[in-house]
Amino acid sequence: MTHITFIGGGNMARSLIGGLLQTGMPATDIRVAEPQAEARQSLGRDFGVACFAENQLAATDAEVIVLAVKPQIMPAIQAELRDTLQRDRPLLISIAAGVRLDQLERWFGSLPIVRCMPNTPALIGAGATGLCANNRVSPAQRALAQHIMDTAGITRWIDDEVLMDTVTAISGSAPAYFFAMVEAMEDAAVAQGLPRETARALAAQTCLGAGRMLMEGGEDPALLRKRVTSPNGTTQAALESFSADGLPRMVARAVAAATDRGVTLAAELDAVS
Ligand SMILES: NC(=O)c1ccc[n+]([C@@H]2O[C@H](COP(=O)([O-])OP(=O)(O)OC[C@H]3O[C@@H](n4cnc5c(N)ncnc54)[C@H](OP(=O)(O)O)[C@@H]3O)[C@@H](O)[C@H]2O)c1
Repeated sequence: MTHITFIGGGNMARSLIGGLLQTGMPATDIRVAEPQAEARQSLGRDFGVACFAENQLAATDAEVIVLAVKPQIMPAIQAELRDTLQRDRPLLISIAAGVRLDQLERWFGSLPIVRCMPNTPALIGAGATGLCANNRVSPAQRALAQHIMDTAGITRWIDDEVLMDTVTAISGSAPAYFFAMVEAMEDAAVAQGLPRETARALAAQTCLGAGRMLMEGGEDPALLRKRVTSPNGTTQAALESFSADGLPRMVARAVAAATDRGVTLAAELDAVS
């Protein structure tokens, strides 16, 4: 029992498989179950991994099963996989947004399970993933789950599963907040006469540059902000405008709205399964 099996060979699985191969994992250690023949062919061609049309075949004897399907699919695949998983007792890793550990245990049985919340930049290796384990996960399995998700960006363990909805609100959903910010900056610049392409390039590169300064320097964002804010300068004028319009309160309300929605979505999944 050495291989990792991905159930679902979509975007996220492709990204993790690409990352694992780059760490030196042999392609023979990876299997993928994917219903679409075309997707199976391209996974085989691009990565040299074995692909299966049937979940059960791919899952048999796996050390790790990564559930990389949409949350709504989970109840359906449990019928196919439950017996195999109960026999082999692999580590189960779910990357399905909003699906709780107790739901996974109900569907797949009392297995070691790690629930992950990655975000879209994981698709380019720049993801931010929160991980949460049930009490059956051994230290070695924890390290293995982290190794798999580290190939898609940075990871952080979350001890209290309730806080996974906050993880969703500040990283899972959050790329869209920055996209919305760039859109608004772009529109403001265009309104002042800058060509759209120029406005987008400047705003997007600034977003990237600010992110890299935050991650690479390891400095407090407040310190970085103060350092670029000269007294009575242009930056101060903009920040005072943000402050007058209540930016921190606006962000806190948006994060709370996303967190609440996460709770509701998990409850809806309870109702249909
Ligand atoms: N993409 C992201 O940035 C992101 C971020 C955070 C979390 N996630 C989570 O990651 C999971 C996967 O996302 P994704 O973007 O990779 O989705 P995706 O591209 O739609 O991949 C899911 C794959 O699973 C396949 N599938 C459907 N039913 C199946 C079944 N019964 N058995 C096996 N495979 C089946 C799908 O095939 P068909 O196309 O034929 O349906 C598809 O290829 C989701 O739960 C999502 O919430 C994704």
